[in-house]
Amino acid sequence: MRLRGPPGDAVILSSILFPLFAAAAGNIDCGRVVVDKQSFDLRELGGARSVVHSVDNGVSYTNTTYTIDVCRPLGKAKHVKPEDQCPNGTRLCAIERVISKDGESDTLGKVYPIAGELVEKGGSNMDAKWALLQNSKSNEDSTKEGLILEINGGFKKGEDGGKKRPQKAIIEFLCDKSRTGLENLPNPEDQYDEVEKREEGEAENDGTPSLEYVRYDTDGKDADVLRLRWRTKYACESDTPPGAHWGFLTWFIIIAFMSIATYLIFGSWLNYNRYGARGWDLLPHGDTIRDVPYLMKDWFRRVLNTVQGSGTRGGYAAV
Ligand SMILES: *[C@@H]1O[C@H](CO)[C@@H](O)[C@H](O)[C@H]1NC(C)=O
Ligand SMILES: *[C@@H]1O[C@H](CO)[C@@H](O)[C@H](O)[C@H]1NC(C)=O
Repeated sequence: MRLRGPPGDAVILSSILFPLFAAAAGNIDCGRVVVDKQSFDLRELGGARSVVHSVDNGVSYTNTTYTIDVCRPLGKAKHVKPEDQCPNGTRLCAIERVISKDGESDTLGKVYPIAGELVEKGGSNMDAKWALLQNSKSNEDSTKEGLILEINGGFKKGEDGGKKRPQKAIIEFLCDKSRTGLENLPNPEDQYDEVEKREEGEAENDGTPSLEYVRYDTDGKDADVLRLRWRTKYACESDTPPGAHWGFLTWFIIIAFMSIATYLIFGSWLNYNRYGARGWDLLPHGDTIRDVPYLMKDWFRRVLNTVQGSGTRGGYAAV
């Protein structure tokens, strides 16, 4: 039996197509987030960005650092034990520290991923979903300008070998024209190899961090939900939606073309009916149109002569 084609074709084809497909399904292209025809560029927010939430236990604090990279998975640090880090593919990681108030002890608590592409690590897909705040379901958001992002995929081991709880995060990107979004952020835990360092935003405004912890709901049925708020100018809708100029130009060309076509058709019809014109004579200004190639040729020759004339010093162009 003969094979109809090289057997490798299908493999090659799927290996070319699959990454494209994977990138499209629920991943984040932070340079071009398109929601309801609005386009946002969040690249400046990329990198490991942290927020610390502190719980007072009396003699100690439990400080949890939540670190997110909206643009790519968090980098892993070589000098930290793998079990003390979130797994490969994590976008949002939680690291707990128990810090005694006398400053004597500082111990690492739970470390767990809240979101990321974690199917192979015991979680699920990130399945990123964007919406405009004004269209989001909760009513209180309807007057605010910005974006809302839901990311999934994380998991947290239960206490004493209890059941694993799925984790997810809902991040509100609020339009704030006075902030880049990097103001007053705490340093991320040293668990992350930052792929590239970026300039911090200037400490300004009221000194509050641009990325804030809102709450962490653990009594939901399906998953624990971390809510963060990020105030940044990159979540502001641009005044002229992208493509507006192109849209105008397109309409202009279409209208101009239609006008010319209407003029020619109506003019021909008039010439035909009134003067019984045929052939070239049908067209309004038929002789002018017929002469266009000659006029063009003439014009080109003049231009050419002028250019050549100016090239030879002191020469005169033939008139
Ligand atoms: C932990 O939280 C407390 C209370 O907010 C704060 O004073 C302390 O500096 C925090 N420690 C670290 C290491 O973040
Ligand atoms: C994490 O993933 C990257 C690329 O996907 C790979 O190079 C690296 O070896 C992985 N690290 C671990 C600890 O699995």
